[in-house]
Amino acid sequence: MKGTDIHTAAEWLKKGEVIAIPTETVYGLAANALNATAVAKIFEIKNRPQFNPLIVHIKQANALFDIAKNIDERLLKLFYTFSPGPLTILADKKPIIPDIVTAGRPRVAVRIPNHSLTLQLLHSIDFPLAAPSANPFQYISPTSAEQVAEQLGNKVPYILDGGKCAVGIESTIVGTENDEIIVYRLGGISIEEVEAVVGKVKLKNTMKESSEHSIDSPGQLKKHYAPKKPLIVGDIKNLLQEYSDKKVAVISFGKTDFARYPQIKEYNLSPQASLQEAASRLFETLYAIDQSDAEVILAQLVPDTDLGQAINDRLQRAAKESKQ
Ligand code: TXA
Ligand code: MG
Repeated sequence: MKGTDIHTAAEWLKKGEVIAIPTETVYGLAANALNATAVAKIFEIKNRPQFNPLIVHIKQANALFDIAKNIDERLLKLFYTFSPGPLTILADKKPIIPDIVTAGRPRVAVRIPNHSLTLQLLHSIDFPLAAPSANPFQYISPTSAEQVAEQLGNKVPYILDGGKCAVGIESTIVGTENDEIIVYRLGGISIEEVEAVVGKVKLKNTMKESSEHSIDSPGQLKKHYAPKKPLIVGDIKNLLQEYSDKKVAVISFGKTDFARYPQIKEYNLSPQASLQEAASRLFETLYAIDQSDAEVILAQLVPDTDLGQAINDRLQRAAKESKQ
């Protein structure tokens, strides 16, 4: 069932059930983060391997100290600057957080989601919420309640409908290693914004090859954002020649002239070339194309600054892992 009733949502959570919740980034599959059995249900619903740890969502900054300790000053500063918002920090977990939440790791990932319904929900319960994105493992993250309903509707008793996600791309994950600030996942807060607060950071993101068990943030798992259809990143005009015998969907950005090609369907992430708009539409666009009759997806990268880095990261990973 889908609805906007916080009381119903809270009741399911108190019973140890998993529900879908809206956030400003993507929808999450949430359960009581202090209840290991409830959290285990998330993995079951998502079909997610247990080694992949979950982000804990809290209602306000001081709740951070209930679940984490030894928090680096600079991470705290980032947390205060960008919360509520698309920033997740990693800090040593306190024992109150069950090991299943962090997949046995010493650090817990924490953020305050910036969505009024979910903040109200968090204020109406007395526990934080562990929540991964509400997609089946390795599929595109949902940015609307309708997408959640289509993907997992029969597996959760309630979807709290908060409309379309404003940011549309997952949170930026930061932590420290040997006193250095590390960005583990590019996301809704850009590197530029992070560096404006704490100075130079190191990007330890994504595209690098690594074995599933050694990675620091499994968002780095290669297969993660893939549509079912083949997606190729590159120069669209060249690619169009190569795929001239196929039904093509093109993901574009800014001003284009693809309208002249009647055989393609263009999905422009932002005709006005706004990176924010493009981020907010990326996953819904991939999802819509997957539902369409297109046989192949051709995508052009966006400018690689600000939110563009996270968008390009997701496009490149989708390209790498789609069935080509
Ligand atoms: O925007 C978001 O972050 C969304 C919304 C629902 O909050 N959540 C989300 O969760 O993207 P998920 O599980 O799909 O991605 C979380 C990433 C994963 O790559 C996970 O491995 C990493 O965060 N992560 C979580 N806890 C961690 C930990 N203790 N140590 C290292 N990485 C962690
Ligand atoms: Mg995810």
